[in-house]
Amino acid sequence: MKNDILKVLVTEDEIKQICKKLGKEITKDYQGKELVIVGLLKGCNPFMADLIREIDLFLKVDYLSVSSYQGTESTGDVRIRMDLSEPISGKHVLIAEDIVDTGTTITTVKKLLLHRGALSVKIVTLLDKPEGRLMECIPEYIGTVVPNEFVVGYGLDFNEDYRNLPYVGVLKPSAYEKWGKICKNKINHKLHVADPIF
Ligand code: IMP
Ligand code: MG
Repeated sequence: MKNDILKVLVTEDEIKQICKKLGKEITKDYQGKELVIVGLLKGCNPFMADLIREIDLFLKVDYLSVSSYQGTESTGDVRIRMDLSEPISGKHVLIAEDIVDTGTTITTVKKLLLHRGALSVKIVTLLDKPEGRLMECIPEYIGTVVPNEFVVGYGLDFNEDYRNLPYVGVLKPSAYEKWGKICKNKINHKLHVADPIF
């Protein structure tokens, strides 16, 4: 898998430092407040796990699964796949994201949680891709800014792969070509298997 990476944009060490720094800021800002960190699945997974261990506060965690991407393109149509496990009303919410790109996901989720009665809703994101913005939105806590390229790793996927890379990087063109071939094979295989049924 690591062979598919063209270049590393954010190293493991940089990610560790980012989590430490953000954790300190969040610890300071949320003193005495009832905090719920809401992770947006699946991309938040490694970031959320590392970040919460750098926050020295009593806090709750919850998860929301939303989707707006297909391949490398945002569809702009945000859907809830899995909802929160507890009501959010009266709580201070910090949404944890892997990356803010167009801003569509975060803007929609923020509106939803405020509508449900959250006292405040802020955003912590590992990566910010400000050049991709379609909606005005500035996350309160940003790990680092990345250029307008499609990135993978440390939670970020390309068609569900590469989430387990320990760093953030850019794929070689051959990785996309490979996916095209796999897609074709899968379709052929499916047709072949399905043939007798029809
Ligand atoms: P937005 O709604 O366009 O801001 O997109 C946010 C979501 O799209 C993120 O939570 C990611 O899951 C996904 N996304 C945006 N940019 C990238 C990327 O470069 N690589 C992988 N996923 C991305
Ligand atoms: Mg995401």
